[in-house]
Amino acid sequence: MQNTDKDIARAGEILRGGGLVAIPTETVYGLAANALDGRAVAKIFAAKGRPQDNPLIVHISHIDQWDALVREIPPRAKALAQAYWPGPLTIILPKSDIIPDEVSAGLDTVAVRFPSMRATRRIIDAAGVPLAAPSANLSGSPSPTCARHTMDDMRGRIDAVLDGGECNFGVESTVVTLATDVPRLLRPGAVTPEELREVLGELEIDSAVMGKLKEGAKVASPGMKYKHYSPNAEVTIVRGSLSQYCDYIRNAAEQENACGREKIFALCFDGEEDQIPLHCVTYGREDDPLTQSHRLFTALRELDERGALKVYARCPSADGVGMAVYNRLLRAAGFSVVQLNEYRSR
Ligand code: TXA
Ligand code: MG
Repeated sequence: MQNTDKDIARAGEILRGGGLVAIPTETVYGLAANALDGRAVAKIFAAKGRPQDNPLIVHISHIDQWDALVREIPPRAKALAQAYWPGPLTIILPKSDIIPDEVSAGLDTVAVRFPSMRATRRIIDAAGVPLAAPSANLSGSPSPTCARHTMDDMRGRIDAVLDGGECNFGVESTVVTLATDVPRLLRPGAVTPEELREVLGELEIDSAVMGKLKEGAKVASPGMKYKHYSPNAEVTIVRGSLSQYCDYIRNAAEQENACGREKIFALCFDGEEDQIPLHCVTYGREDDPLTQSHRLFTALRELDERGALKVYARCPSADGVGMAVYNRLLRAAGFSVVQLNEYRSR
């Protein structure tokens, strides 16, 4: 389906009837169902192969819809919403009774997001109900940032995909919980920790954001314990200058007999291809994290399409929006990082 009035009305009908529609947002494509209908929401888990204990984000198209979903909206939540909604920010609060267990996966909180993309809000309006929507990928794969990637994963599993073009940000929303004494960042996104602190004053960064979870550790955000965003290839992040990186991969490629040089790829920044002695897939400009977030998941899917088995990734800066890019790339790499330059804490 396209982004026309008629198709948006049709998407609304399917959603109201308990069906599943993949929808564009400013972050990534979402797989939507009526958030107030537990049976409809259960179909999302089946279509994605999503673990049952991983809760979903509820999307609204008017700020007034928030009230009914949560127990109360404290002043600091109002202030956050005022500053960054509509936009790529998800706020977690204790849930109200109308949230089905399928949405909250048994937790007593609910995550709510008010997206900024006009088409997304029109679909929510057409459905007439808030929409539960995780990213529209098969569980474990990179999130889809265009209708084609969504179809690649969801063909035959859902009722419709609404094509709204390429997603602007390309990585998922910032997730912050206000259900704790001190607000806590659970997932970095386009709204940065600095921007959250401007409004909240204090903000803790959950240890799972940049670190690997210990086996059996209790997690604040269940989604973080799963393997995620991974292409088929084995990804290694190489931290160092471009020339250090080139020396390193030249060496590594020479020693690589198992899969053959043809299957080894560089995941690098725009304009570096000429200097790199491997096949290259680029993911944005080195000095511009928004171009990196826009490209990253597409680049990971491209590596699969081109048959990569081993990938050496240039390391992004983890400052500002870069934290979201680095967080996703770290998971795609299963936390495999080679350190070539002097250690700098990121
Ligand atoms: O940008 C986005 O947020 C996209 C688009 C479609 O809006 N959605 C998205 O949903 O990324 P999903 O399900 O792929 O990621 C939601 C994350 C998961 O890590 C989940 O564990 C966490 O948010 N989450 C959801 N509800 C939660 C809750 N009540 N407490 C803690 N974490 C929660
Ligand atoms: Mg996801």
